[in-house]
Amino acid sequence: MGVRVWVPREGQIVDDIPAEDASKDLVFRNDSPTHNDVVETVLPRDAAAWETLRDEALACRRCALHTQRKQVVFGVGSPSSDWLIVGEAPGAEEDRRGEPFVGPAGQLLDAMLHSIGLDREHVYIANVLKCRPPGNRDPEPDEVATCSGYLDRQIDIIRPRIILAVGRFAAQHLLGTDRSIGALRGQVWPYARTGASLVVTYHPSYLLRKPGDKAKAWHDLCLARDAYRKQVAGVSAEA
Ligand code: URA
Repeated sequence: MGVRVWVPREGQIVDDIPAEDASKDLVFRNDSPTHNDVVETVLPRDAAAWETLRDEALACRRCALHTQRKQVVFGVGSPSSDWLIVGEAPGAEEDRRGEPFVGPAGQLLDAMLHSIGLDREHVYIANVLKCRPPGNRDPEPDEVATCSGYLDRQIDIIRPRIILAVGRFAAQHLLGTDRSIGALRGQVWPYARTGASLVVTYHPSYLLRKPGDKAKAWHDLCLARDAYRKQVAGVSAEA
C-alpha cells in the first residue's frame, strides 16, 4: 500500500552511448535498423481504448484533409513506450506508406534516435496532424483544432515519460506558445496535460537543409536522454 514500484517499460535507453562519441563528428550515422515493416509490436496499456482511437482516426472525415489523403498516418512504434516523438504532419511519402517519418527526414530521425540508443520500434512516433496537408503546406489552425484531440488521446494512453517535439510546429502546439524554436530548445519543459518532460529539437527536414545545426540537435537529444534518466531515477527513488 502506497508503495510505487517501477516497472521497466518499452523505450528505455539500452545502449549507454557516451556523448563524446557522437559529438566528435556531429554526424548522425544512419546505421539504425531500417524502418520498413515496423508495426506496433507491443500492446498499449489500454488496448481497447487504443483500438477505438485508431479506428476513429482511420475513418476520420472531420476536416477537408480527408478528401486528398491516401492514408491516415496514425503513428508507429511501441504505444507503451516511455518516449513519444511528435512531428508536424505527414508528407507525400508518409501519406503513401501510412507511416510517419519514412522519407529522407525520417532516415535522419532514425539516426538521431539511434545516437542515444533508441530506435523507432521502441519509441512511439506520431504527428500533430494525421493527414497530409496538400503541397506540404503548414497546417491551418482549424485543422489543428480538429485533429489534435487524436494526439491528446494518444498521449493519454501512452503516458510517455519524455516527449521529444521535433520542429517549431510540434513544439509550439504542445507547449501552447508562439515562441521561436530557438527560445524553446535547450531546456526541459513540463508538458502541462500529463507532467511528462518535454524537450524541443530541430525538425530533421530543417537539419537536412542546415546540417551545421546538428550539433545543437545533439545537445537536445542528450538533454532528453538525461531528463529521461532523471525521471526514471525519481520514480525508482520513491519505490
Ligand atoms: N515531417 C513530419 O513532421 N512528420 C512526418 O511524418 C514526416 C515529415
